[in-house]
Amino acid sequence: MPESASPSLMTIVLAAGKGTRMASSRPKVLHQLRGRPMAYYALDLARSISSDRILMVLGHEADMVRANVEDSYPGVEYVVQEPQLGTGHALLQCLSQLEGFCGNVLVLSGDVPALTADKLENLLKTQMNSEAEVAILTSFLPDPTGYGRIIRNQAEDVTAIREQKDLNPDEESIGEVNMGVYLFKTAFLVRELPLLSNDNAQGEYYLTDLVQAAAASGETVSAFILKDPDEALGINTLLELSDMEKRMRDDTLRKLLEGGVRIIDPSTTYVDESVEVEADAVLHPITFLYGATRIGSGTVIHPGAVVTDSVIGSDVQILPYSVINDSRIDDRASVGPFARLRPGTHIGPEAKIGNFVEVKKAHLGEGSKVSHLTYVGDAQLGRNVNVGAGSVTCNYDGFSKHQTVIEDGVFVGSGTMMVAPVVLGANSIVGAGSTITEDVPPDSLALGRARQEVKEGWARRWREKITGKGNS
Ligand code: UD1
Ligand code: CA
Repeated sequence: MPESASPSLMTIVLAAGKGTRMASSRPKVLHQLRGRPMAYYALDLARSISSDRILMVLGHEADMVRANVEDSYPGVEYVVQEPQLGTGHALLQCLSQLEGFCGNVLVLSGDVPALTADKLENLLKTQMNSEAEVAILTSFLPDPTGYGRIIRNQAEDVTAIREQKDLNPDEESIGEVNMGVYLFKTAFLVRELPLLSNDNAQGEYYLTDLVQAAAASGETVSAFILKDPDEALGINTLLELSDMEKRMRDDTLRKLLEGGVRIIDPSTTYVDESVEVEADAVLHPITFLYGATRIGSGTVIHPGAVVTDSVIGSDVQILPYSVINDSRIDDRASVGPFARLRPGTHIGPEAKIGNFVEVKKAHLGEGSKVSHLTYVGDAQLGRNVNVGAGSVTCNYDGFSKHQTVIEDGVFVGSGTMMVAPVVLGANSIVGAGSTITEDVPPDSLALGRARQEVKEGWARRWREKITGKGNS
């Protein structure tokens, strides 16, 4: 028999709640977890299980949430729940989208960010083609406080989910909890959603009551037990959010360590999941690697470095307290300490950026050095260029930015102002303290400074005049 096409899947992400327990004016699902809004995690999950349709229920600050989501997740449909009268009420707002849809409906919460597709595999595989109306994900928590408890009858069948505030005293010790993930048959939802009541301790329409409704009409409720409850913890408070952040961070670091990256002090090392680090790189304490960053093997990131969206080659030294954004650094180069590389910087192989140097939209060719107290912006430096201390590419005239070109082998003396647009020809030398406003031909010496004047005895005479007495 040919394999029949699997029934279609609609995933609904509930994200209308205010998140009162966060004690914050920011909508809960927009709180950042590892640099990304919490809502993204549920949407990533919805995508990764190949949902045919993704609906997101918005309510509290709906416009703000939508604005933060829609560009990154095209194709998501939005449903507004106003006012927010509970999770069952949230789902009820999707009724018109459900009518006419045949397939299964997976319900996720916007506040369960650790959940991944492999944890749903069992639930989806087993349930999608089964006759059962409802399947849920449960787990056992050492401290189940706050979660809905799974009520089972003597035959161990699930008969209800009871919310914390509605528990009978003898139910409080139940350790099996509802992880907030449900798979429903569409027809069941269309039939049962309008029948939900809010006759409970919180006066809310509970989505969880659908379990009782199914059981009461003789349906089997399938419960898939998640071994590790950490995989589906709900985030209701800022404390839980930072605990989750730490858990995910530790997980990333563990993978790097297993892959041969030396991390001196994991407790002060912050690496986004998106960052790639090759074996034999060394991360010193207090390092921050964010976004689309890649670090090559043998590279050493010294303390206090903050690297975002940058590609760093092999055997590079990033010395302490350097801040690097959207830049590329080639093999065996050295940067810092106290360097700032802004977007569009490309440091060639074996090149050196020293302390208190700022670079922006500039390329340094192989072996070039800018060692001290210098600004290089909108510039092209060839190979083996040396820029002396305290030099500046004067790239901005108050209206627009201009290019400085420094060709191979140029030596720029200390304290040089290069007023762009200007070209310093190959192997030319610029005398220290020059202000260069015109192009310098190759192999020439350029001096752009006042000739020195010396007045012998002037200093002594001046002191005598000021103090009224001669030097003894
Ligand atoms: C819910 C479950 C609980 C489960 C827990 C797991 C209910 C009644 N309870 O409790 O059994 O153990 O999740 O994490 O469902 N939301 C709306 N509209 C609303 C209310 C909430 O969209 O009117 C959204 C929230 O934004 C959130 C999700 O639904 O993303 C869950 O709501 P929340 O208030 O956090 O439910 P819990 O009390 O955690
Ligand atoms: Ca919750």
